[in-house]
Amino acid sequence: MDLAVRIGSLALRNPVVTASGTFGYGDEYAHVVDLATIGAVITKTVTLEPRAGNQPARIAETAGGMLNSIGLENVGLERFRREKLPKLAALDATVIASLGGETPAELAALLEALGREKAIGAFELNFSCPNVSKGGAIYWTDARRLERTLRQLKPLTRAPLIAKLSPDVTSIAELARACEQGGADAITAVNTFVGMALDLDAAGHRLNRSTGGLSGPAIKPLALARCHEAARAVRIPVLGSGGIMSGRDALEFIAVGATAVQVGTASFIRPRAAAEVVDGMRAFLAARGIRRIAEWRGRLMEPPATPARRAPAARRAKPRNGRGASRTRCDGSGRSRARR
Ligand SMILES: Cc1cc2nc3c(=O)[nH]c(=O)nc-3n(C[C@H](O)[C@H](O)[C@H](O)COP(=O)(O)O)c2cc1C
Repeated sequence: MDLAVRIGSLALRNPVVTASGTFGYGDEYAHVVDLATIGAVITKTVTLEPRAGNQPARIAETAGGMLNSIGLENVGLERFRREKLPKLAALDATVIASLGGETPAELAALLEALGREKAIGAFELNFSCPNVSKGGAIYWTDARRLERTLRQLKPLTRAPLIAKLSPDVTSIAELARACEQGGADAITAVNTFVGMALDLDAAGHRLNRSTGGLSGPAIKPLALARCHEAARAVRIPVLGSGGIMSGRDALEFIAVGATAVQVGTASFIRPRAAAEVVDGMRAFLAARGIRRIAEWRGRLMEPPATPARRAPAARRAKPRNGRGASRTRCDGSGRSRARR
């Protein structure tokens, strides 16, 4: 069965990759998962300087999911390059390095340092961390900033750039299009959703900060809708992420237009989850006689949105109750309910 996909110039054996921050730097899992059986490993987001992350408690279990407020704890650029990359290079893994920056200049400095590393097949730019006070999801939800930043970063490496977006926005389509225009090779939809968990008995929050990022099966329907929205908006590949636990889940994201999928929280429950997702996809497709993943991609995707047509002014219904605008039908027919 042909499960191979491309993310820009990067060829993946199959569409299943591990989500950043849920699989360490990859080598920690190599004794339980044969990394050659999965599409790629996305490493923990690395920043210019090492970060200790937020104070505990940083994890809280919720119904069908988990809330985290790790705060981008990582070893920093120098240790990543000196210790982590050589270990990864020795494994038969395709590596996507996740980069985090509080400003475009910090991301540029990271790419200047790592952009030519042979062990790195692509870069994922974390434009969506909900758990840091500077340079997190809110800072990066400005479409023009995303576009400008990608234009600045693109010449710094020949490896594909994947823009990882937050789901907590009015229009992920608009952000995805801005990234594409800036030169991104792919979009990841989505990072965690901002959530909150309380301990009523202690009359306090369950995390150190009042909010954290929600992940796991609880977010799958939300993430699927954002993935679909992003995939309809752009021509570049979309990596679906959010609550993927099985091959069937992964195939849902691919059916709505994703080219690849990320397995995150599932790896905390079953360390071999990513490899199991590959097996599950293969079994489902084989049972239906489908031999190429490309035959499945986009099966349940609605066509790209076209701008709504406006009815000629003379035919537009006069509002009888002064609230005509809000009563206009949303089916593009231009007819209002008042006229029916
Ligand atoms: C404990 C934890 C740490 C995470 N750290 C990162 C990170 O460093 N960088 C990043 O881009 N995403 C990070 N994420 C988000 C995941 O990569 C993924 O996008 C998200 O969890 C949704 O997928 P899931 O429901 O399959 O876990 C983290 C998620 C969790 C649960």
